[in-house]
Amino acid sequence: MSQEVIRGIALPPAAQPGDPLARVDTPSLALDLAAFEANLRAMQAWADRHGVALRPHAKAHKCPQVALRQLALGARGICCQKVSEALPFVAAGVRDIHISNEVVGPAKLALLAQLARAARISVCVDNAANLAQISRAMAGAGVEVDVLVEIDVGQGRCGASDEATVLALAQQARDLPGVNFAGLQAYHGSVQHARGREERARICRDAARIAASYAQLLRESGIACDTITGGGTGSVEFDAASGVYTELQAGSYAFMDGDYGANEWGGPLTFQNSLFLLSTVMSTPAPDRAVLDAGLKSASAECGPPAVHGEPGLTCTAINDEHSVVRVEPGASAPELGAVLRLVPAHVDPTFNLHDGLVVFRDGVVEDIWEISARGYSR
Ligand SMILES: Cc1ncc(COP(=O)(O)O)c(C=O)c1O
Repeated sequence: MSQEVIRGIALPPAAQPGDPLARVDTPSLALDLAAFEANLRAMQAWADRHGVALRPHAKAHKCPQVALRQLALGARGICCQKVSEALPFVAAGVRDIHISNEVVGPAKLALLAQLARAARISVCVDNAANLAQISRAMAGAGVEVDVLVEIDVGQGRCGASDEATVLALAQQARDLPGVNFAGLQAYHGSVQHARGREERARICRDAARIAASYAQLLRESGIACDTITGGGTGSVEFDAASGVYTELQAGSYAFMDGDYGANEWGGPLTFQNSLFLLSTVMSTPAPDRAVLDAGLKSASAECGPPAVHGEPGLTCTAINDEHSVVRVEPGASAPELGAVLRLVPAHVDPTFNLHDGLVVFRDGVVEDIWEISARGYSR
């Protein structure tokens, strides 16, 4: 075959605007715009009702088109978890980004300083030597970043966990060049998937009490603590109402997933599944078994295999690199070869990170494909 013929073969896009969903090439990650927009409105309304700012986490989706819609509805800014992850968002015009994480090492600090020229940037600290490095790097580059002292409110991950350290870091951030002390980050990760609603409420009360006592200590020491930021999809109902948090960082609420779906909800704040992995039935080797064309390279499975949406009696029982195996329960109708099923990913964040584009649709018709531009930006 001539080089010219080979060069002429290109991978076509998975879908075109106007295509029916059933014609999308699979596996493809797809977003139901009506459910997505309802989720965005519900969260913004919850923040507004409690007088707290919303700063949705972009680690969930890595897609600037998502963040721009959250900002248009009233979000104050966004969170990113990594410095590099912020790059595509700054390029897309986002001008207020909190890196909700510690930033360590010269390469990351150099990139941070570059971003701080283009946008308002804040970072977390829990270590005096790291704070001094940030200060030197930012002052040396002639820029400033806001600094939030991260406190451990019960998760046992990053964060200072005693009064002397919190006070010393806040004083250092207030006094050093290149940095401004902006407040506290009080994120509790492990409460997010505590299944019972009452249990989440109790853990959130404890977290808010710890955050409030550090903020009080700072105020008594003459240091204003304007921001207390934190919260995820499983805790924002309680964080917003605590009277302690001033800013919410939830991200997954825009999409929902299997792991959040397993929480007990039932309060005033609920969200719909808007994110689906479209997958084609590629084999029907037995009456009680169908095999799909989406595997671990299309959906993360550390929280279990995806769930089949809207098809009672179909259960995904195994997921391999490029296949998922679906059991057809007795009495359920088996899907036909070539049928496109909607799967609900068990965990949205790592699933987004496996895809270049997001097929967005309304009423079963493709409207656009949004680039997941921060995919793989994990440095
Ligand atoms: C620091 C921080 N804030 C906010 C979130 C958002 O959580 P979720 O996507 O579960 O709403 C996370 C998620 O891991 C996080 O690590």
